[in-house]
Amino acid sequence: MTTSETKYETHEHDVLVIGAGGAGLRAAIEASAMGLSVGLVCKSLLGKAHTVMAEGGIAAALGNVEPRDNWKVHFRDTMKGGRYLNQWRMAQLHAMEAPDRVNELEQWGALFDRTNDGRILQRNFGGHKYPRLAHVGDRTGLEMIRTLQQHGIHTGMKVYMECTVTRLLGAGGRVGGAFGYWRENGRFVVFYAKAIVLATGGVGRCFKINSNSWECTGDGQSLAYLAGAELMDMEFMQFHPTGMVWPPSVRGTLITEGVRGEGGTLRNKDGKRFMFEYIPALYANETADKEEEADKWLKLSVQGKSEKGVRRTPDLLPRDIVARAIHSEVKAGRGSPHGGVFLDIATRRTADDIKRKLPAMYHQFKELGDVDITKDPMEVGPTAHYVMGGIRVDPETQESGVKGLYAAGECAAGMHGSNRLGGNSLSDLAVFGRIAGKYAGEHAKGATALKIEDDEIEAAAREALEPFNRERGENPFAVHEDLMNQMQKYVGIMRNADDLAQGLKEIGRLQETARNLRVEGNRHFNAGWHET
Ligand code: FUM
Repeated sequence: MTTSETKYETHEHDVLVIGAGGAGLRAAIEASAMGLSVGLVCKSLLGKAHTVMAEGGIAAALGNVEPRDNWKVHFRDTMKGGRYLNQWRMAQLHAMEAPDRVNELEQWGALFDRTNDGRILQRNFGGHKYPRLAHVGDRTGLEMIRTLQQHGIHTGMKVYMECTVTRLLGAGGRVGGAFGYWRENGRFVVFYAKAIVLATGGVGRCFKINSNSWECTGDGQSLAYLAGAELMDMEFMQFHPTGMVWPPSVRGTLITEGVRGEGGTLRNKDGKRFMFEYIPALYANETADKEEEADKWLKLSVQGKSEKGVRRTPDLLPRDIVARAIHSEVKAGRGSPHGGVFLDIATRRTADDIKRKLPAMYHQFKELGDVDITKDPMEVGPTAHYVMGGIRVDPETQESGVKGLYAAGECAAGMHGSNRLGGNSLSDLAVFGRIAGKYAGEHAKGATALKIEDDEIEAAAREALEPFNRERGENPFAVHEDLMNQMQKYVGIMRNADDLAQGLKEIGRLQETARNLRVEGNRHFNAGWHET
């Protein structure tokens, strides 16, 4: 036994999955089904994953509403939405396998909304040619997590909750463990594993206005990078067009694209449907350029129908286009009173429809903004939502450049190119979560445990404790706040060389500051330490 094994709490598994959202749960289920010992580490409580914020649906070419849909059309839409910068093989695998993953969720107990003849209902979303998003009202991510969690805990996996991993452990280009601490009491824990899957989600909390939960702080990207893996496309940040803009305390909170999928339209302060002015050449063939045609499409869409030859409303262009259009309208002085634009669902849907199809949105606005969306429009504006970049992985196996280290979901990169289509995140989680779990499992089956040296573990422990040892230093909350402000100001939705250069300077300054963080008190549930 090594010193570290007696000094710290230790756990040993064939496969360790870090992150318990959709991708992590799906990976853990797959590896468990191979008869392997699997550990699942959550920074929060099981079930509280950020996956629940993908509200409007999971994209899969089931063809239930539009029989002309198939994986090839889904693949085309995904590549086009990502401006052909996608890793094409990932986009292909995703489009081909998404229907199986949706059907599997149903077999495991997910209760999707239904068509009149009892099949899984699919709704329209931005950039998808046909109604493609299987959904559960506007709580699809929540239903997905509930289903995966319920299925997963019966497969024998061991779940570790409220545990933060601070370092991956390994040697010689291989990974063999992870070092972390229990958030509740601050005690250290060492995990030994033959394979590790990172499924820690995104980075949205580095922007001031964002839709992300407190957990989305780039942990997996950072862990992988420090362990020697490569990151790619980190400049590709998605700004969801519709976040709340008022009141200030909830600015950025997501308003699902499902609102527009259910017939909602965008207007500026003059009441103008401005999206007709922003149709790019790439989408001209498939987008209505006059209100009459858009209204015909919207009417059909509201009835859950589609018709050959009728082009889609520009309100449902891909997110990058709509977000930039809103930004331009606000900059031109045509925005709403609180710096957004208006999103109206009340014109096209009855109050009953809205409460049934978009219950979370109805309650969100009523409770947080005192707005009744069955009568009045919402004020909306762009919010940092999703990072397309992340850990570079092999498209077939999801393995990173470090042997035994896999990544899936938002922390992995490639699938979405420069812009993700709405609904493609939940399908990404399910498709690539399964693939990562499978190949991590196969790797673990054929591997022997890597010896982790005591020195490496002790270095990780020293690093974690450093902020307690400083007599003077920076406040971690102030540094985070500063970072969010700089990112918002210089690296936001519209970028130019001068701003990026200034942003880089500010982040360089913060990098120095962050080397000198200080926390007070002890290790028991120390919020400052978690922030550090
Ligand atoms: O708008 C939404 O419901 C978000 C979905 C997604 O990001 O895929």
